[in-house]
Amino acid sequence: MSATGTTRQKMPSDIAAMKGGAPIVCLTAYTTPMARMMDAHVDLVLVGDSVGMVLHGLPSTLGVTMEMMILHGKAVARGLQNACLVIDMPFGSYEESPAQAFRNAARLMSETGAGAVKLEGGQHMAETIAFLVQRGIPVMAHIGLTPQSVNVFGGYKVQGRGEDGARLMKDAIAVEKAGAFAVVLEKVPASLADAITAEISIPTVGIGASAGCDGQVLVVDDMLGLFTAFKPKFVKRYGTLGEQGEAAIAAYAAEVRSRAFPAPEHVFADEVKK
Ligand code: KIV
Repeated sequence: MSATGTTRQKMPSDIAAMKGGAPIVCLTAYTTPMARMMDAHVDLVLVGDSVGMVLHGLPSTLGVTMEMMILHGKAVARGLQNACLVIDMPFGSYEESPAQAFRNAARLMSETGAGAVKLEGGQHMAETIAFLVQRGIPVMAHIGLTPQSVNVFGGYKVQGRGEDGARLMKDAIAVEKAGAFAVVLEKVPASLADAITAEISIPTVGIGASAGCDGQVLVVDDMLGLFTAFKPKFVKRYGTLGEQGEAAIAAYAAEVRSRAFPAPEHVFADEVKK
């Protein structure tokens, strides 16, 4: 609530303050209508670079550009009044140097109105995260399975099993110390996600992690059943909009072909009745 009693859009600091409290509800969005649909129900909306695979048919997130993120970021911002808006930094826009990351993060925020950026990486990105935060850019970190590194991982594999868990714990502590306001944990063992959540002072937002995380995120097209090319184990489908949409399109096609559509109520008379 604002000083005037009206609701205001959540900021990254509001998300950070949810650590250990009510679970943070997060979904991705890429368009204005989808953002409007979820705004009253979620705390955080992420314009994920998953947009490349979900809406543009790309085989991975590697082909996503700054221009794509800005276009979708602007569209989502128009649909939000309540939820905190975070935008992904696409592959190649931040890894080279902190200065490159600042330039592109500032552009993403100033052109879209997002309240924060998200970038992938743990210990090796800590310097960049600190550089951005010190210059006014809130950062959400993303560790575990970081899809932009799919070619290094050799596939979309679970990260942090066994002894590798220590590496992810160090990643989580590094991004916390660098000043990230929250961290996404993707596709890691539940026990490790719980241990990280207990260890660090910033919220963990899980995807394929644990119900014990401080929040959860899903790709909206996955949970609505709109994206059906494949379904990761961690996705729960809360709807079947893809099937419903195809049935509706088939019904329309049949009615056009049979001339049942348009019906009299869909066409215009020559003269307006008095
Ligand atoms: O790009 C994306 O949608 C993401 C979430 C799945 C966390 O990074």
